[in-house]
Amino acid sequence: MKNLSICVLGGTGFVGRHLCAELVKRGHQVKVLTRRREQHRELLVLPSLQLIQADVHNETHLKQHFNNCDAVINLIGILNEKGHKGNGFHIAHVELSRKVITMCSSCKVSRLLHMSALNASPEAKSFYLRTKGEAENYVHTYAANKIAVTSFRPSVIFGVEDSFMNRFASVLKFTPGVLPLACANTKFAPVYVNDVVQIMADSLTDTSSFGERINLCGPKQYSLKDLVKYVATMSGHKRIIFGLPNWLSKLQANVLEYVPSKPFSIDNYHSLQKDSVCDGESICMTPLESIVPSYLQQDRNYSLLDRFRAKR
Ligand SMILES: NC(=O)c1ccc[n+]([C@@H]2O[C@H](COP(=O)([O-])OP(=O)(O)OC[C@H]3O[C@@H](n4cnc5c(N)ncnc54)[C@H](OP(=O)(O)O)[C@@H]3O)[C@@H](O)[C@H]2O)c1
Repeated sequence: MKNLSICVLGGTGFVGRHLCAELVKRGHQVKVLTRRREQHRELLVLPSLQLIQADVHNETHLKQHFNNCDAVINLIGILNEKGHKGNGFHIAHVELSRKVITMCSSCKVSRLLHMSALNASPEAKSFYLRTKGEAENYVHTYAANKIAVTSFRPSVIFGVEDSFMNRFASVLKFTPGVLPLACANTKFAPVYVNDVVQIMADSLTDTSSFGERINLCGPKQYSLKDLVKYVATMSGHKRIIFGLPNWLSKLQANVLEYVPSKPFSIDNYHSLQKDSVCDGESICMTPLESIVPSYLQQDRNYSLLDRFRAKR
């Protein structure tokens, strides 16, 4: 396969670190734009990766770095905003995606991989899913026949250094006895990050994926309560997980929305009103149970990049 020059936005995050390691392994030249280069210097262990400080919301910066690229990958996304009215989501998802595709066009970049989310839709009640849906529609409509766009719509993603499993492990650690869990019956089909990044990396040159929106789910479905119970067992924090009724879930969201760092927000509550599962068969086959114990149970302090170093 031809070695490509790829600019990655959001390459310093959980999915981004895994994806960049995979792209480098495949021989591609990778440029990661970050707002805070100093905080992500561990990525520099990856040969053929350049880590560049840039304001991704500034079109001039985007243009400068998209020039001469074969492909752009936009992984930027937020689960919570500072305010409460959706402006932060709009800027991070819709406005940024608009700038990215416009600059792809202006720099003659012919391939864009766009990270969305399962259930993203302009009709969704949560700002997260609504703005993800608007962004996805925008890039596909704008691209028309000029730019080959593929969107990826994963359920929750697990893997070394994920936010979902590790976050619940930390919550459980500091929970005395009983954890009151909101939206406990919502279903997920957790998908393994390595499956996600393999599909993304393969799609770069796979013309059958051009223009497609690909739902990504793992092989099994679990309720949120089952997942949290599993995390509790794996991380050694045995707790009683108590599923809250809907009205108390909503109340919890309304209270925690105003706690600094928003451990659970009204927008999270709205996102969790719909199961995050795929119709039909899954294309990502790695089961949760074959991966999660390795990082929740044993080597919690062994980072992804340490693994990369060890393999070289
Ligand atoms: N993780 C999941 O379970 C999951 C599930 C479904 C969909 N997704 C989507 O997959 C993508 C990657 O997820 P992730 O878990 O890897 O996210 P992440 O770890 O939070 O990383 C996102 C990256 O985006 C950049 N970023 C965050 N907020 C930004 C802002 N306001 N403006 C500009 N850049 C910003 C950050 O880079 P710098 O700080 O270096 O600039 C960060 O490294 C997101 O779009 C997410 O919505 C994730």
